[in-house]
Amino acid sequence: MVFDYIDGAAGEGYGEALNRQVLQSVRLQPAALVNVEQRDLNVDVFGNTSSIPFGVSPMGMCNLSSPGADLMLARAAAKHASPVGVSTVASTSMERMIEVAQGHAWFQLYFSGDGRTAGSLIDRAEASGYQTLVITVDVPEIGRRPRELAHGFKMPFRIGLRQFIDFACHPRWSLSTLRHGKPEMANFGGVNGEFDRTETRARADWTDLQRIRDRWRGKLVVKGVLNVADAKRLQAAGVDAIQISSHGGRQLDGSPPAITMLQRIRQALGPDYPLFYDSGIRSGEDMVKAYALGANFVFIGRAALFAMAAQGEEGLHTLYNVLCDEASITMAQLGKRTLSEIGDDVLWESQ
Ligand SMILES: Cc1cc2nc3c(=O)[nH]c(=O)nc-3n(C[C@H](O)[C@H](O)[C@H](O)COP(=O)(O)O)c2cc1C
Repeated sequence: MVFDYIDGAAGEGYGEALNRQVLQSVRLQPAALVNVEQRDLNVDVFGNTSSIPFGVSPMGMCNLSSPGADLMLARAAAKHASPVGVSTVASTSMERMIEVAQGHAWFQLYFSGDGRTAGSLIDRAEASGYQTLVITVDVPEIGRRPRELAHGFKMPFRIGLRQFIDFACHPRWSLSTLRHGKPEMANFGGVNGEFDRTETRARADWTDLQRIRDRWRGKLVVKGVLNVADAKRLQAAGVDAIQISSHGGRQLDGSPPAITMLQRIRQALGPDYPLFYDSGIRSGEDMVKAYALGANFVFIGRAALFAMAAQGEEGLHTLYNVLCDEASITMAQLGKRTLSEIGDDVLWESQ
């Protein structure tokens, strides 16, 4: 059930698969005899230097992948000065996350349009020192994900007979998870009451966004954009960066490939406006492709959860090393020393 929650996608999974297919079909142009002995993977993100070319997108209930997963991500964020997204429905409180991440955490907000819960979460984020707020706008309703529905997967997490049988068949996961306590949505309970994952957010509109922009003094990122007209309007509304994302294919099976929309939105918004990218990134070479297509920074999602599910914190370190090696080797092939040198000139089709 947990694997299907993490790996699953909307509908029949075509949206997710098509994005991977398009990413794979992007071809890069090698360049010979360039001195690329010295390469660095540093990237400037909102004036902070990340020592790795990626951050981690906000994901709910990460501790289901491995006990303590959120804090593993937070420690990695601190080590590399690279942002970790902290979901509204994270399994560790936003206060603890930013402390362990030593400030390298961004709070992600789902807002329903009623303003109350969102307002108090924003106040808490501000009080605990967050400087970047990410608003996810591609979940007016939670996507229909058949693989979750088949298991009766719910948040808050409920253990009925079907789930109990599933857990009994996976004792390694069940025992270690039980030992550490059932993962909870740690930003709720107490002041913020219960979170209803299936609650509609369909009421939220541009007026709500403007209200948040007026209220939040830090950096504001809007995540989940796949539409050129929306991107232009967000830029005009004073949003600091847009994260092009199809939510990893978890929301709309018929969505356009996020990686294609990154390129189109970059063309529409010009070279200077900050664009971030996630969805379908599985290797360092994928990351370089996203930079070539116009991203200023890239985020991973499921890959981090798979690594921790397989091997805990060590798995996460291995993943980071592999991704960095792959990105660095790709840069060497392309004759580039830094990620800021990667532009559309490395795209084979543009030659
Ligand atoms: C298990 C899981 C939970 C997620 N929860 C959230 C969330 O709470 N908020 C959010 O904005 N995005 C959420 N996402 C989407 C990710 O932030 C990201 O857009 C996506 O995972 C990127 O695609 P990838 O997994 O193919 O790399 C979630 C993704 C996964 C896999």
